[in-house]
Amino acid sequence: MRLWQRTMIRLARSRTITDFMHASRLMRPFSSRFVGGGDAGQAVATAQELAGEGIAASLFYLGEYVDSEKLVRENVDALLKAIPAMAAAGLPLHVSVDPTQIGSVLSWSLCRENAFRLARAVAEVARGGSHPARPALMLDMEDAGVNRETLQLYFTLRENDLPAAVTIQSYLHRSLDDLRDLAAEGAFVRLVKGAFAESPAIAHTVRSARNASFKAAVDVLFSQRARERGVYPALGTHDHRMIDYAGMVAQANGWRRQDWEIEMLYGVRPGYQRRLVQQGFRVRLYLPFGRSWWPYSIRRVGETPRNLAFVLRSMAGA
Ligand code: FDA
Repeated sequence: MRLWQRTMIRLARSRTITDFMHASRLMRPFSSRFVGGGDAGQAVATAQELAGEGIAASLFYLGEYVDSEKLVRENVDALLKAIPAMAAAGLPLHVSVDPTQIGSVLSWSLCRENAFRLARAVAEVARGGSHPARPALMLDMEDAGVNRETLQLYFTLRENDLPAAVTIQSYLHRSLDDLRDLAAEGAFVRLVKGAFAESPAIAHTVRSARNASFKAAVDVLFSQRARERGVYPALGTHDHRMIDYAGMVAQANGWRRQDWEIEMLYGVRPGYQRRLVQQGFRVRLYLPFGRSWWPYSIRRVGETPRNLAFVLRSMAGA
């Protein structure tokens, strides 16, 4: 599985393949499965359709590991446009961002400056809104090389009373300690298993250990103490076993269904997403938009070969 994942990550990072895929029409149907639109307007329209089904969205502008100032500006501007558009459409305010798309590759001070601009924009428009779900600039967690700085960025935003949230990857050995710190301050935390091919020295790499680490993290995040502190957990997983487990721990520790949410990727297990809504769970979808769809989409294939079926089907239909 790690070899498969590494190969897909290599395909995602290859500029030649990315340019070819973006120019070719062959794989367009594949991208539309996982991508909510080419620009903010289309993404907001998709988010409105989802809202009609009781599903919230977190907008994410496509583009990662960006090493040009011009592209960083473009990424930030796209989100600065999307935030008021979401508010104008009456949608709950939530955007996700990778530190490497808003400047961390060039310098962390640039990344910080941009994160502040985005979080302030969320705070600004959220003030007038009345949606009960917490508004947030959600920091995605990328490879372990940027883990500490990303967490530090989260704490700096919160010290300035800005609506920030952060993603924690349960597969990292350090994550239980990080979660305890975050639980103590009543954080909005998205828990995921982790999507990078990290070394066994710092991460659980075997499936059974990855699942056990996710459950251990759920125990911390859904403890009675975390509830009393005002933690708002988001479970970022498509794994029904993990969701069932969290539901059980949550119930045992007195969490109500509106005190936490389940997050999935747009296009992955849509039937299951809707069943969860019918059962009264809060569901939010990570909704990417923009033109740089190849790296994001091929990473989804890296996470599970099941998603390869979409590629083959879309190629057959092209
Ligand atoms: P996993 O892939 O481990 O599958 C477990 C089981 O779930 C499968 O055996 C199957 O039963 C079921 N299943 C999963 N996918 C299915 C499918 N397509 N069809 C049918 N059944 C399926 N990672 C990261 O490192 N940093 C980040 O910031 C984020 N952010 C993020 C946000 C959100 C909203 C999500 C949902 C995920 C992320 N991730 C992430 C990715 C995450 O770390 C992880 O790689 C993927 O979610 C895949 O792991 P799962 O827990 O979903 O199930």
